[in-house]
Amino acid sequence: MSTRPIEITSALPPLVTARRTYLMCPPTLYDVDYVINPWMSGNVHLSSRERAIEQWNHLYRELTAIADVELIQPQSGSPDMVFTANAGLERNGTVVLSGFFHPERQAEEHHFRSWFQSSGYNVLEVPREIPFEGEGDALFSSEGTRLWAAHGPRSVMASHTHLVRAWGVEVIALHLVDPRFYHLDTCFAPLEDGFVMYYPQAFDAPSLVKIEAFYPSEKRIVVSEADAVRFACNAINIDRTILVNDISRELVAELQTKGFEVIQITLSEFLKAGGAAKCLVMRLGPQIER
Ligand code: ARG
Repeated sequence: MSTRPIEITSALPPLVTARRTYLMCPPTLYDVDYVINPWMSGNVHLSSRERAIEQWNHLYRELTAIADVELIQPQSGSPDMVFTANAGLERNGTVVLSGFFHPERQAEEHHFRSWFQSSGYNVLEVPREIPFEGEGDALFSSEGTRLWAAHGPRSVMASHTHLVRAWGVEVIALHLVDPRFYHLDTCFAPLEDGFVMYYPQAFDAPSLVKIEAFYPSEKRIVVSEADAVRFACNAINIDRTILVNDISRELVAELQTKGFEVIQITLSEFLKAGGAAKCLVMRLGPQIER
């Protein structure tokens, strides 16, 4: 009679579905040091680092309850590095690295490049004369079939060719026309189950036609100016949970009736630099062998 143990473990299917992974950068060197968007104007050196750390920790706690988080170390001279959404855009192990429009943020590129390379990602770059600001300006629809990509104050239209080349995905160009909503993720959030939350006035008319052609009216959550300036669209959505800065009761109620659970996290210190919840994270694909 054979005494060999029966191997059953390899035949078992995984019991849990993979959690999502996000990249964050602790705000220990965060400050408003310069003005490269309207929100920073009048706020130079007026944010409290202590409060920023508390607010960031709150977001980190809520996020790590439902997702995994990787950290990149902050670097001196790059106070905006906390906004990791601008590091690049990742999908299927490939990262299109950001090339920042403003020289003030270009030093970050090198740190993000090193992190992605040492983490095993295939890193693609856009030429310096073609600014592209990563997930700040390019967002996949929730089912991943198309990529909404902005051109406006930061990323330029020519960057879209590089996105098509990277993934062979359909890219739909959206034009941002309000300087307060200088990144796509400040005014547009594709949500689970085919919903979209957006601030229409941030777009030109042809862009609205594209958005409304894709999302039927019952799937559109239109945000008021009052909520838009609270960065309501700058929301992290994982399954039915939405992590977002403080927003109006009306918008919370609307999201709830659409089946979302809303977790509000005060992010006032980051609003002074023109960012909130979604800007503070970058979505990463499943972990890669190091
Ligand atoms: N101060 C930063 C900038 O102007 C904020 C970036 C916000 N990030 C974002 N994904 N919207 O570049």
